[in-house]
Amino acid sequence: MMLPQDLPESPGEWPRRIGPLTLSLPDPEGVDAVLRRRNDPAVTEWLIQTRMDPESLKKEWLSSLTNPLQHVVIAGLGDEVVASGSLWIVDGLGQIHGYPEAYSNREAGIDYLVDPRYRGRGFASRIAEVMLGLAFDELHLRRVTAGCFADNHASRRILERSGMRLEQYGIRDSWHADYGWLDGCTYSLLAEEWTSPKL
Ligand SMILES: CC(C)(COP(=O)(O)OP(=O)(O)OC[C@H]1O[C@@H](n2cnc3c(N)ncnc32)[C@H](O)[C@@H]1OP(=O)(O)O)[C@@H](O)C(=O)NCCC(=O)NCCS
Repeated sequence: MMLPQDLPESPGEWPRRIGPLTLSLPDPEGVDAVLRRRNDPAVTEWLIQTRMDPESLKKEWLSSLTNPLQHVVIAGLGDEVVASGSLWIVDGLGQIHGYPEAYSNREAGIDYLVDPRYRGRGFASRIAEVMLGLAFDELHLRRVTAGCFADNHASRRILERSGMRLEQYGIRDSWHADYGWLDGCTYSLLAEEWTSPKL
């Protein structure tokens, strides 16, 4: 596996506080708490990956602890698990010969989900900021993207407020199991455009 020279071997110092949230690396209890809501229709309505097999997701998230290409955080509010965020590292697009250090594992995708009972309190916005900081300040990646259905207005607001740019608006390019072909969006930010947390 080709890793950028400066990709850290350890996942850094956790837990971290942001606003009222404590962000921790996944442990079995935290993942179980997220999984209790993960397949709830109120959560999956605007997710690209709708129903997830709980055991597979749990295995994947726990293995992120030793996988330098995947990072998962679980957000707690007091004793309650209220949200999660993910970051996965991928290759950049383009010609894949010569200078692999330029493109190999130099980008990331991010996403987040919030327990429906805790929406509208800025939690996803804070998690997005943390994932961007992780990508640029600690993992030294060159570009971060996030995709969503165009009708996922809350997610688009979060991405826009975090400074990400709408780079692709696809007309009916995204299949929705209930609503059919819908428009999709891709947002992006480059390392040189990243400025530290705005929250
Ligand atoms: C989308 C989601 C993450 C939002 O979480 P949240 O914690 O409520 O988000 P925040 O409170 O940080 O911010 C939401 C923003 O969207 C705005 N918003 C909410 N609903 C909106 C709507 N229908 N139209 C426009 N803006 C909307 C809010 O006003 C807020 O913006 P503001 O802070 O400028 O007022 C949450 O609803 C969720 O988990 N959805 C299911 C999973 C998902 O869609 N994840 C994203 C995959 S790309």
